[in-house]
Amino acid sequence: MKKLIAGNWKMNGSLASAMELARAVEASVASEPGLLSRCDFLVCPPFVHVGGVKPVLTHVSLGAQDCSVFTNGAYTGDVSADMLADMGCTHVILGHSERRQHFGETDGAIRQKAEKVWQAGMTALICVGETEAQREEGQEAHIVAEQMKHAIPDGATSRNVVVAYEPVWAIGTGKTATPDDIRTMHAFIKDQLSARFGDQPIRILYGGSVKPSNAGDIFNIPHVHGALIGGASLKSSDFIGIAKEVKELD
Ligand code: PGA
Repeated sequence: MKKLIAGNWKMNGSLASAMELARAVEASVASEPGLLSRCDFLVCPPFVHVGGVKPVLTHVSLGAQDCSVFTNGAYTGDVSADMLADMGCTHVILGHSERRQHFGETDGAIRQKAEKVWQAGMTALICVGETEAQREEGQEAHIVAEQMKHAIPDGATSRNVVVAYEPVWAIGTGKTATPDDIRTMHAFIKDQLSARFGDQPIRILYGGSVKPSNAGDIFNIPHVHGALIGGASLKSSDFIGIAKEVKELD
């Protein structure tokens, strides 16, 4: 399986800087065919820049960071999954911990959004992960199992779902989970997915302070099928530097 190298640009940048970043990522990916033989690439700009960057991306897929629970209609401020598909998106990040924390997103809402994403023909990239307090209480497996149970709809396949394990305490903090933490959780997620959806190769990404200097070790851990990258995805050399740490196919 190729690794998925996914960039979450969050709420950063101007149209000009988004275009520049998209062009730089596309140029690097296009100029090194070896990268594309081992990795798939995805960038997720803010909604307003999705349409702008689409024309410069050929070898890099386009995603969004959220979508509406509704299909269409009088929902001021919302953006539907169909609109994102129409703009050329193939993936939508759902349930990022920042949306859970700052916008009260629940597993039930994430599940409804995932269904909309599927109806629009896209892949839902569903984030799960425990907080620091939950890990200190030894609750991490329970928390992640509950999130997966309630946020991932029935009918998940390797084409319509990617799971991202992002320990909340490792996001944007410079703290990375230890290889043992990641190994244990990814094996657990894999077992949960197999028990519910059968033995399909649903990708499981790791996210949380991934950078070129730690990516190699992370990618060597079994059941790590790529990375969801925040801060380091805003600099094309770091984003590509992470992909270069993928040395072989699983
Ligand atoms: P980070 O963010 O790489 O800046 O820790 C990861 C994420 O939030 O997806």
